[in-house]
Amino acid sequence: MDSTTLRIALRQQLESLVRSGVQQGPRIDPALWQTLVDKENVVTTAVPPKSVPAAEAPRPTVRKPTDTAPAVPVSASATATSSGVATGQVQANLSALAHDSWQTSSVDRESRIRLLAEIDQEVKACEKCPILSSNRTQTVFGVGNVMPRLCFFGEGPGADEDKQGEPFVGAAGQLLNKIIQACTMQREDVYILNVVKCRPPGNRNPAPDEVSHCRPFFERQLEVLQPEFICCLGGVATSALLETKLSVGRLRGKLHDYKGAKVMVTYHPAYLLRNPSSKKYVWEDMQKLMKAMGIQLPGKDSPQS
Ligand code: URA
Repeated sequence: MDSTTLRIALRQQLESLVRSGVQQGPRIDPALWQTLVDKENVVTTAVPPKSVPAAEAPRPTVRKPTDTAPAVPVSASATATSSGVATGQVQANLSALAHDSWQTSSVDRESRIRLLAEIDQEVKACEKCPILSSNRTQTVFGVGNVMPRLCFFGEGPGADEDKQGEPFVGAAGQLLNKIIQACTMQREDVYILNVVKCRPPGNRNPAPDEVSHCRPFFERQLEVLQPEFICCLGGVATSALLETKLSVGRLRGKLHDYKGAKVMVTYHPAYLLRNPSSKKYVWEDMQKLMKAMGIQLPGKDSPQS
């Protein structure tokens, strides 16, 4: 049996055990667990869609708050690791990220990849915003785990993202990566997307009509991804998702609702690059978000850079 077949069989067995009510099992080596839950869900570029008639495509369902997957209890024999997080907690954190193994979603990974690729094709062909479409090098759709518990939602591509076709790859992206890592996750564990898919020239904010044109795209992306948690980075993402005029300062630090997903609002990494003294607020917000996700963080100190 090759490793892919073994992985699929093991995942199916675990899903079946969970469905039959099993809530605790033997401890699994975290490294093995990581290989089970990790890389195969990562899509860095859109996969060309298979020619499946739209009528046959499964309709994603919007997550209900009660759909939360059961967490695997932490073993009492947990020991400390060099990161300061107990190994049992590492296992629990990995389980907390292993959305694909435990969730009861109606949309499987392959369908998500296909549905996202279909939306991406529409994005690539879109010319609703004359200024944005005529100035873009390419559209920037989204990247990451297609079975995410957590999505990061940004504003729109900058120059680096426009060149590379991937969100958050410039200086703000480097800081976002550090924030994700400080939360004991990797960029590949989450999904990252933006409100608008084309770079606004001169890095200006997207205009209201540009946000409206992209709304069906990001709403459908989130409908396919069904994240349990969304982190809005900055005011543009926050007002687009929550359809509010309230500031990040007013909304941050609490969980909000978007169609059943829990939403944390925080400052944009680009803002933090200009205002490093605000990093402590983002760290507070991320600690609250991780607590809500059941992910234990090693210490209380804010990441230094
Ligand atoms: N800022 C964003 O909001 N999104 C990106 O992709 C990059 C920078």
